[in-house]
Amino acid sequence: MHPQLDTLDAVRVHYDVLRDRLMTEVDRIVQELTKTSRRNTSTLHAASTTIDGLCRDYQTFMMQVSALRVREEATCSDRGDLLSMRHAWGEVTARTGLFQQEINRWREYRELVHQQIKPKRTKLYHPDEKLHGNTLSQTLASDDIFDKLHAMINPQPQSDAASDHACFPDIGLSNSVFHQHLHAAYRLLLAQRRQGPIRFLDVGCGAGLKVYTALRYFDEAQGFDFDAGYVEAGKRFLALDNEANAEIFEQDALTYDSYADFDVIYFYRPARDFDVLSEMEDRIVDLSKPGTVLIAPYERFSSRFEDLGCGQVDGHVYLSHTSQRQADVWRRKAELIGQYVLKDPESPLRTIWSPIADVSRQNGYDLRGAYKKPRY
Ligand SMILES: C[S@@+](CC[C@H](N)C(=O)[O-])C[C@H]1O[C@@H](n2cnc3c(N)ncnc32)[C@H](O)[C@@H]1O
Repeated sequence: MHPQLDTLDAVRVHYDVLRDRLMTEVDRIVQELTKTSRRNTSTLHAASTTIDGLCRDYQTFMMQVSALRVREEATCSDRGDLLSMRHAWGEVTARTGLFQQEINRWREYRELVHQQIKPKRTKLYHPDEKLHGNTLSQTLASDDIFDKLHAMINPQPQSDAASDHACFPDIGLSNSVFHQHLHAAYRLLLAQRRQGPIRFLDVGCGAGLKVYTALRYFDEAQGFDFDAGYVEAGKRFLALDNEANAEIFEQDALTYDSYADFDVIYFYRPARDFDVLSEMEDRIVDLSKPGTVLIAPYERFSSRFEDLGCGQVDGHVYLSHTSQRQADVWRRKAELIGQYVLKDPESPLRTIWSPIADVSRQNGYDLRGAYKKPRY
């Protein structure tokens, strides 16, 4: 039922009532979507249906508002009257009009909520055979370019000291494979609802292309390398972006003692010698906080992680000081997280739907428009 709108004050009051009722329903949706499991699907359906009704009420309300305005204009006896009437209506007209634009977007947000009512399970790693045709060729071409960029960023030959220390030279893991690991780790961390800035470390970072890349997924990234020449090159590279929340420094992985400061630790086979590599792996795992996400993309770690007390979540992503049973639980939860990787919103403007967008992004979902590629 729509109340009689016969004064501007009645319009204001009714606008506030509708807005408050919408916010209450948005809040119910947010409460449910914040849960990573056992969402009450009836609550989500019911709140969506109530919002459908409120949006229809808003259309009726807007028609009543414009009818009232026309009636009030008709009672104005002269131009002065008309101007002061329009002045009085100005703020209400602007507010209700803007809100109409927000209301018009409910359909997109409804779809976003719907996707999360029963989220689709997707594997953390895509089987390789799923990548084919154009996508495969483009991925390989992109990897080639990243290899070249890597060589341009780090033209330094390996130092004798690093070679004597059993270090591998700065041979980069391919860019697309690295993204697979980062994405898997990212979804896992969303499933765990980790709070606070997520800190990433590359142990043996060479000139730091991976450190910089990790910033697309995590809040802070650091890397260190034994080779002083690589570190110099890495510092020059990071200096190109003075907004990057990243740092590269010289350090030996075998003596470094601050592994516990990080949430994600990546090491891509830094050492040539197996004994040295084992010593490094032991140290990283021992000194890391329980539950630290480890990305160790090489075969030898796959055969050692259990002895080291780590659980394998999937592929080359592990959790330190974690049983396999617990790691399996986390994999299943992470598979229910969507695939969207958060980036700064294009518009800082908040709307009534923003809380839904916020919680959805924490679930790995965003509006379809957010996935659109730029058009040229
Ligand atoms: C295979 S490269 C990996 C480069 C980069 N992390 C990537 O994934 O593209 C290994 C790097 O580890 C470094 N490294 C080897 N042993 C190290 C040690 N004990 N401490 C620090 N860095 C080390 C090497 O100098 C080299 O840059």
